Amino acid sequence: MKLHFHGGITLFTITFITLTLLLLSTESTQPPFACDTTNPQTNSLPFCQTTLQIHQRVEDLVSRLTLDEKISQLVNSAPAIPRLGIPAYEWWSEALHGVSGYGLGVSFNNGRISGATIFPQVILSASTFDARLWYSIGQAIGKEARAVYNEGQAKGMTFWAPNVNIFRDPRWGRGQETPGEDPLVVGKYAVAFVRGFQGDNFEGNNNNNNINGHHHLLQASACCKHFTAYDLDNWNGISRLGFNAQVTQQDLADTYQPPFKSCVQQGKASGIMCAYNSVNGVPNCADYNLLTKTARGEWDFHGYITSDCDAVSTMHDILKYANVPEDAVADVLKAGMDVNCGSYLKTYTKSAIDQKKVLESEVDRALHNLFAVRMRLGLFNGDPNKQLYGNIGPDQVCTNEHQELALEAARNGIVLLKNSAKLLPLSKSQTSSLAVIGPNAANAYALRGNYDGPPCKNLEILKVIQGYVKNTMYNQGCNAVNCTFATIEDAVSVAKNADNVILVMGLDQSQETEDHDRVDLTLPGQQESLVKAVALASKKPVVLVLICGGPLDVSFAKDDQKIGSIIWAGYPGEAGGIALAQIIFGEHNPGGKLPMTWYPKDFINVPMTDMRMRSDPSSGYPGRTYRFYKGTKVFEFGYGLSYTTYSYNFIATTPNTIHLNRLMSSIQSTNESSSSSSSSSIPYMSVSKIGKEICEKSKFSTFVGVENTGSMAGKHPVLMFVRHGKSRNGSYEKQLVGFESVSLNAGERAKIEFVFNPCEHLSTANEEGLMVIEEGYRYLVVEDKEYPINIVL
Ligand SMILES: *[C@@H]1O[C@H](CO)[C@@H](O)[C@H](O)[C@H]1NC(C)=O
Ligand SMILES: *[C@@H]1O[C@H](CO)[C@@H](O)[C@H](O)[C@H]1NC(C)=O
Ligand SMILES: *[C@@H]1O[C@H](CO)[C@@H](O)[C@H](O)[C@H]1NC(C)=O
Repeated sequence: MKLHFHGGITLFTITFITLTLLLLSTESTQPPFACDTTNPQTNSLPFCQTTLQIHQRVEDLVSRLTLDEKISQLVNSAPAIPRLGIPAYEWWSEALHGVSGYGLGVSFNNGRISGATIFPQVILSASTFDARLWYSIGQAIGKEARAVYNEGQAKGMTFWAPNVNIFRDPRWGRGQETPGEDPLVVGKYAVAFVRGFQGDNFEGNNNNNNINGHHHLLQASACCKHFTAYDLDNWNGISRLGFNAQVTQQDLADTYQPPFKSCVQQGKASGIMCAYNSVNGVPNCADYNLLTKTARGEWDFHGYITSDCDAVSTMHDILKYANVPEDAVADVLKAGMDVNCGSYLKTYTKSAIDQKKVLESEVDRALHNLFAVRMRLGLFNGDPNKQLYGNIGPDQVCTNEHQELALEAARNGIVLLKNSAKLLPLSKSQTSSLAVIGPNAANAYALRGNYDGPPCKNLEILKVIQGYVKNTMYNQGCNAVNCTFATIEDAVSVAKNADNVILVMGLDQSQETEDHDRVDLTLPGQQESLVKAVALASKKPVVLVLICGGPLDVSFAKDDQKIGSIIWAGYPGEAGGIALAQIIFGEHNPGGKLPMTWYPKDFINVPMTDMRMRSDPSSGYPGRTYRFYKGTKVFEFGYGLSYTTYSYNFIATTPNTIHLNRLMSSIQSTNESSSSSSSSSIPYMSVSKIGKEICEKSKFSTFVGVENTGSMAGKHPVLMFVRHGKSRNGSYEKQLVGFESVSLNAGERAKIEFVFNPCEHLSTANEEGLMVIEEGYRYLVVEDKEYPINIVL
């Protein structure tokens, strides 16, 4: 609605009055918050008593609902129950890397908050390998989310983030949303983000336990999605909606499930979303083993489980798993799903009960989980502004602190991929003219990635660079990111006249996004020709900046001497332009490292639908991710340069022989390999047999020395891998077991401690999906240094 339209004022006023009357009339039946202490009709109800346990309050609440009221609550847009003073609630809001307007819960145009801090898209924050930073980001977003709620601009406090699926295939349109391809990194990201977002401290304790009886009061509710083995959106006509992922027990155990386990067990996320796809023939939302046995049982999940949007109807309409709609409803409620994003459960639960496919008690089970989360959010404690998080106001959104954090994340995430002859950093004073070329140079929107929100600030790269070098010329180079048409001659003539040239190329959401996977790994359209022509014509080697979530095969640029530097900037968020300029002009020393493998372009010969992580040499299947992929790489996982140099050494490991046999004197047989399949002759022991206590006792420490041997201060993560002394069929090439970010001045040294639990860090999944520890040597690896550890069973 346009407020400045003169001719429309009368009409607008009438509309406004009508709207106001409507709002007033619904307000009398729709309470703004539950358990209003000034309302004598509801304030004495047991479910409003904050001194009672949440499960008692929920029990009371559910017992008061009619069957129709109960059914109405099983969908994301849950209506009010005015007779009990319960307001409407919207379960669907998004906050992947900033509070977002995607979803139905949050609105940025009906109040004082019109934007939020938009952090880098997750894949770039991941490349900082800095769990404290991830925690701070989660904390800031959770706080802004609460401010939006307090301001009356949110109809719910449940946000469907983080996305903790493994970035299995480089073509995946949503790989950008994830922390990359490594299960340890993704798990640690999940834990840090969720703790920050929900209001726990970094170590995982809730600061707000039992304040005025508010047990586990959540700042905002996070959701681990998409459970599980979801990493294909829409590829070659194959859609996530109907995809049946064939996944081995081994890959589930050591790749697909660990991030979810961490998100739930250590992060204590209060939500899970089950994914559209099936796994081995069973739709995720209908999988009792997954939702109830594994998540709630083994992992002790307390929270609600939502379907992805319309993922119940698709079980009937697309997957044909349910013959009639009522079967789909029965399948998901029996499996342990609680709320349906969509309307299927509203439409078909009554008939499912009438047909005796669903028991009312099964609906009650779901409602318990749903109302418990709303209560944990403090939404049944009376006036929200009088509560623990009630004083978080609009002034807490887009604060300098949050915007500085967004800048820090972008700066520490950006990865320097090539810097031959030390082309970078450019000197601000000695660069008299610059040419900035490319379709992503003057597009602030492209810097944000998907699931963004309206940002605090909108800054394109070109504008920021013009602030450094006044004489900066610009040519877009391509009609759009798809570059179906390139203005090569114009770009070349602009480049020829400049001291230095910066090309800002890559992808955007027209190339990779939700429901849209790529079909190739090269730069779109004529981008490559443009880059080569400009590089050839330029006075000096050029700087190539890649804006993209998924990796690109830029081998041509790696090998081209006229392309001096390559920078990967992901989708760096609202402060991305500033971060990039600070790196280009040497105000910041880059330290980010790639959180995913960059494959050569012929990797597209591998069907995206093949979920196997492990290679299969007999059929030429190369395997996936740095852990199993055996082919050539454009850039490796963990790769990233700096303006300085670092050296590493192992200082000590105590002990370097782990005698599990001695620790386990009470356990008889240590050789289980006779009971395993024929592929192994290496003795091993299952982690569950070793037991938690012995696992704890067998922990050991490794100290690594790091020295900044160059001439510039820098911050970078130290990545610790492990590899097997003897590898066998199905073992990883190497596996990340720890990472720690360290800041060092030129010439400074530090000693970093890594603590390992063999059961966690030195185990692998066997073919049955059992975590086992094999006997023999492992090598701890940091860059070019190795250190042996001997495991004796
Ligand atoms: C290329 O992008 C432009 C701008 O988004 C669009 O109008 C055009 O249809 C695209 N061309 C192709 C072939 O996709
Ligand atoms: C364990 O069993 C395997 C196969 O049965 C055998 O080759 C190996 O020598 C045994 N190892 C020990 C330590 O007993
Ligand atoms: C290796 O393991 C795979 C299963 O992961 C199996 O299909 C294959 O037959 C095994 N190969 C050998 C040589 O044992």
